[in-house]
Amino acid sequence: MNDKYTLSTEKLNAIRTSVDIVSIIGAYIPLTAKGKNFFGVCPFHDDHSPSMSVNKERQIYKCFSCGAGGNVFTFVRDYENISFLEAVKKVAEKAGIALSMNLLENNSNSKYTRYYDMYDIACKFYKNNLYTEEGKDAISYLENRKITNEVRKEFEIGLSLKNSHLLTGLFLKKDFSKEEMIANGLAFVKEGELRDLYFNRIMFPLFDLTGKVIGFSARIYRSMDASKYINTKETSVFKKGELLYHYHKAKNIARSKDQIIVVEGFMDVIRLFTIGIENTVAAMGTAVTKEQLLLIKKMGREIILLFDGDAAGRNAAYKTSSELIKMGIYPKIVVLEEELDPDEYILKYGKERMEYKLSHPMNAMDFKLQFLKEGKDISSPLDKANYITSVIGELNQITDPILREATLLKISEETDFDVNIIRSKLSDTKEIPITKEYKKKKASSLKVNRYEEAERRLIFYMLNHEEIIKRYQRDVQFLSTERYRLLAKEINYFYEEHGYIKEADFINVLVEEKDLMQTLHEIMSLSLKDDYQKEEIEEYIATIYEYKIVNQINYLKNEQKNTIDQEKKKKLGDQILELTIQLQKKEIWEDL
Ligand code: CTP
Ligand code: MN
Repeated sequence: MNDKYTLSTEKLNAIRTSVDIVSIIGAYIPLTAKGKNFFGVCPFHDDHSPSMSVNKERQIYKCFSCGAGGNVFTFVRDYENISFLEAVKKVAEKAGIALSMNLLENNSNSKYTRYYDMYDIACKFYKNNLYTEEGKDAISYLENRKITNEVRKEFEIGLSLKNSHLLTGLFLKKDFSKEEMIANGLAFVKEGELRDLYFNRIMFPLFDLTGKVIGFSARIYRSMDASKYINTKETSVFKKGELLYHYHKAKNIARSKDQIIVVEGFMDVIRLFTIGIENTVAAMGTAVTKEQLLLIKKMGREIILLFDGDAAGRNAAYKTSSELIKMGIYPKIVVLEEELDPDEYILKYGKERMEYKLSHPMNAMDFKLQFLKEGKDISSPLDKANYITSVIGELNQITDPILREATLLKISEETDFDVNIIRSKLSDTKEIPITKEYKKKKASSLKVNRYEEAERRLIFYMLNHEEIIKRYQRDVQFLSTERYRLLAKEINYFYEEHGYIKEADFINVLVEEKDLMQTLHEIMSLSLKDDYQKEEIEEYIATIYEYKIVNQINYLKNEQKNTIDQEKKKKLGDQILELTIQLQKKEIWEDL
C-alpha cells in the first residue's frame, strides 16, 4: 500500500515521532490539559464546546462529536486542506527535517492530472491573449476599471478571443480529446461543431483550495446583450459550493491577522487587494454553503461580512450571520451606504474610508436587530408585535446566556415591552443544538450489536498493544464483521512488516483507503481506557467466538433450508445441534 508514496513508512514514522502532536495541533487551536489528554474546539465541524481530544501518549486526536480523528499528518492535511504529502512536508519542516520537494511532487491526485493540465494550459493561453491586437480593448476595459498590470498578474486575469476555435484547436494539437474538453467544461458542440466554451470575454481563473486553476468566471466587456458572467459548470473537480475565491492566498494572511473578510464577488476581492487588504475571500454570488462556512471559520476568529449594500446583499449578510451564529460564531458586519458593493465603494470613497468601515463593523446581534426593524414602525402595535416575534426567534438561537440576557434587555427597552413577557416566550437553551450528522452517527453507533462491539473493542486494543495482536493471531484469526475483519488484517500486516504497532503510524498506511479509514475512526473514537484489563480481553475473545458460532449456525440453517437432499439435511441438523450445545455451554472458550 505504501508504494503509492515515495516516502516509506519508516520515513513517515520518523517524521511523526520527531514532533509532538500536542504542540502541532496546539498551534492551530487552543488546547487545554485535562487529565492525560488535551481538549480543544474541533475545527472540523460546527463545534460549540471542546469535543476534540488530543492524546499525547497515543499521539492521535479524535473528536467525540463529529468522529474526526487521526494523527498529526491527517490533522494538518484536513485543517489546511492540502494533500497528505503536503501535510507530511509541512510537519517535517516543523521538525526541522527538510524533505526534497521532488520526493513529494506528482504523487497526489493523479486521476485529475489531465484536468489540471487543461486548465493550466487554458489559463496561460488566456493570459497571453491580452497581448494580442484584440487584447487592447480588453486591457483598456480593465484599465478603466482600475485593474492595473500588477493586479492582472496577481489574479492571472486573461482574455478569450472572438474566434471560438482557438483553445479547442490548441487542445487538439496537444492530444486532448473532444470528450475530455467537453466533460471538463471547456468546450461544447454547436451545429455539429466543436467550440470553445468561452469567447470574447475577460477570463478570471478560479482556483481550488491549494491554488490550482480548476475553473473560470468569464465576464463580458464590450457587448451588452449577454449574461454578465459565465462560469465553469460543476465538474468532477470544480465544485463551486466548496470553494472560496482567493482562499489559497488569503489563508495564511487571515490566520496571522486572526481575521477574515468575506465578500460576495471576486471583483471585490480584487479591489480590496489594490488597497492592500488581502485577508479576503468571496463565495461568488451564491448563498454561502456549509462547506464554505467551515472553511471561513478555520481562517480566523474574527469574521467580517462585507457584502453589497443593496437589499440582496443585506439579506445575504443576515442569512450568513444566522448560519454562523448556529455554529457558535458571531461575525461582524459592515453595511455599505448607497447600495454600493465593496469594489464601487472603494473606487468612490477611497482606501481610508474603507479601512475605517472595516475597523468599525457592527456586531452580529445589532445588525440583525437593525435588519429586522427595517421598514417597521415600532410605535405601531402591529409592527411592534411582528418585530418582537422575529426577535424572539433570534434570541432562541443565542446559546450564550449573557448575550441572550443583554439582548433581551435591549429589546425590552427599545420597544418598551415587558421583559418578562418576552422572556416567557423563549425556549430553554440549556441544550446545545445537536447537529444532524452527530445524531446520525449516534444512531448508527447504537446499531452495533454486542458481538460487533466486542470485535471493535478488541481492535481498539490491537492498535496499541502488540500482545493483543499476538493474541488475535493465536486465538481469533477471523472476525465475522467484514469491515472489522479487513481492518484487523491491515493491523496484522503492519505489525508483521514493521515489528511494532502504533496507531499514530498505522494511520499513514490507510490514508487512501476511505472505508478502512472510516472504520478506524469509528474504533478510535470509542471511549475506552488506553490500558485494558485482562478479563475484558478474555470476554471479547469469547464473545467473538460466540459470534462465529452464531453465524455458522445461521449459515448451516440456511443450507439446510435450501437443500432437498434428506441425508444432507439430517447431517446439517446434527451439526447445528452440536454448535448450539457448544454455544450454551459457557466454557466454550476455555479450550481455545
Ligand atoms: N455572478 C455570477 N453570475 C452572474 C452574476 C454574478 O456568477 N450572472 C457571481 C460572480 O462570481 C460575481 C458575484 O456573483 O463575482 C457577485 O456578482 P455581482 O455583484 O453582480 O458582480 P460584481 O462583483 O459586482 O462584478 P462587476 O463589478 O464586474 O459587475
Ligand atoms: Mn461590481
